[in-house]
This record gives sequence, C-alpha cells and structure tokens, in this order.
Amino acid sequence: MGAGAPFIVGNWKMHLRREEASLLARSIIPYLQDIGVAAEVAVCPPFIWLDAVKDALEGSQIILGAQDCHPQPEGAYTGDISAPMLRDAGCDYVIVGHSERRTLHGESSAEIREKAEAIFAAGMAPIICVGESQEERDAGQTIAVIREQCAASVPDAQKGIPVIAYEPIWAIGSGKTPSLDEIARVHTEIHGIMVELGFASGALRVLYGGSVKPGNAAEILALPGVEGALIGGASLKADDFAAIVRASVPLDNIRTAGSA
Ligand code: PGA
Repeated sequence: MGAGAPFIVGNWKMHLRREEASLLARSIIPYLQDIGVAAEVAVCPPFIWLDAVKDALEGSQIILGAQDCHPQPEGAYTGDISAPMLRDAGCDYVIVGHSERRTLHGESSAEIREKAEAIFAAGMAPIICVGESQEERDAGQTIAVIREQCAASVPDAQKGIPVIAYEPIWAIGSGKTPSLDEIARVHTEIHGIMVELGFASGALRVLYGGSVKPGNAAEILALPGVEGALIGGASLKADDFAAIVRASVPLDNIRTAGSA
C-alpha cells in the first residue's frame, strides 16, 4: 500500500504573525538537513505569509502548501484566493475540505471536489480531508461517512492523484486519537475506497491527522496504509514538527539520505 517517502504536512491554520511565521520556517530547516529525500515535508501557512515563508524556506527541501482556495481561477469573489494565484506564490499543495472549513464555512463535498479540480488544473495537488464526527463514530458510521466524502469530494482519477488526509474530527486539537488498530483499519478502508474510485493503491498517499505529537508519531506512521501525517498544533513548534518528521523515517534512511 502507498507511495514513496512519508509525507509530513504542517497546517499552521490561522496562527502566527509575520515575524513568527518566517522564524518558524527558518527554524525547521536545520533540524531536517539530514533528512534529504527520506521524507517529503510541506508547511501550509496562512495565505498572507506564503511569500515570507517561501523566502524563509529558500534553499531547503521543505515545500509550500496553502490551506484552501476558491474553485474559480479569477473573478468577482471578494476576499478569496484562486488556485493559479497559489501556484504563483510557489505552492505545490493545497489542503481542501478540512473539517474546520466543512463545519465553520458550510463547505459541501461538491465544492471541495471543484476546488480539488481547480488545484489540479493549476498544476498542484490537493490534500483532501475526510473524517467522521464523534456522533458518527458512536453510531458506527465512520466508514460510511468517509466513503461518501471520498466519492463526492475526490475528482475523477484522470484529473490527477490527490493526497487524502484522514482526520477524525473529534481527534483534531483534542489530544485524543483513535487506537492504532482503528487508524490502520480506516486507512486500509480508504485505500480500498480509492481503488473503487479508479486509483491504484500503490500510488496513493493517505495521511493521518488529529493530535499527532512527537510521542505518538512513530507508532502511527509505522502503520500499514499510513503514508504520512497532517499536523496542526505540533507543527507550530519547530522541534516538535521536526521530531514528527524524523519519527516517520527509519534511521537507516536518514543516514543513506545524509551521505548521498
Ligand atoms: P491537530 O490538528 O494536529 O492540532 O490535532 C490537525 C489538523 O487539524 O490538521
């Protein structure tokens, strides 16, 4: 299951002032110098700091992502940012369908799919978030909810291969996580759902997100079907974020990458 090196993404949400954002980006770099290509690492700052963070990351292997976009390439949409603009700003990835957008902005899976298509069209890849609420989990609907979200949010396979992030809503920012068995089971199911939707399982990256910390990262990232992680709170501290990246990579790979 799953493709390539682990993919670790920091979602900075609506945090950090200008100097803090630049400083955080600069601080992560030395921690990850020996990682090389053993892990792919991205940070997703607020839109307004993309330029500053891009400058701060210059010369490093850390790539840039954004947290949302508008489905249209341009137009009379006050306050919105388009996918081609994010490409201009140096982004390679855009998170869409985060539960905070689905819940607080009422975004539907159909809108998320349009955004994901716009992201592919602009030459980037979407990170499409899916996940169940506490009530849905309690009602035993986790897989049904995710199946519906994937079917409705993921563009046709010929548009490109999205990154999927499984984020149980109740685990986000709560310090709670599903058991390792549950995470492995849901990730295996997501791989299966994506295969039904026409994707090759081996080409997929399904990230886990929700209260990933340095203390639990290694065991979560070692699970079958977990190809990386989407990190909120812990991505705001350079040492915690770097520790999670390092936990995703077998030590031998670090040495190999470092000596390459
Ligand atoms: P958290 O957030 O790591 O703070 O739980 C994850 C996310 O919302 O992407």
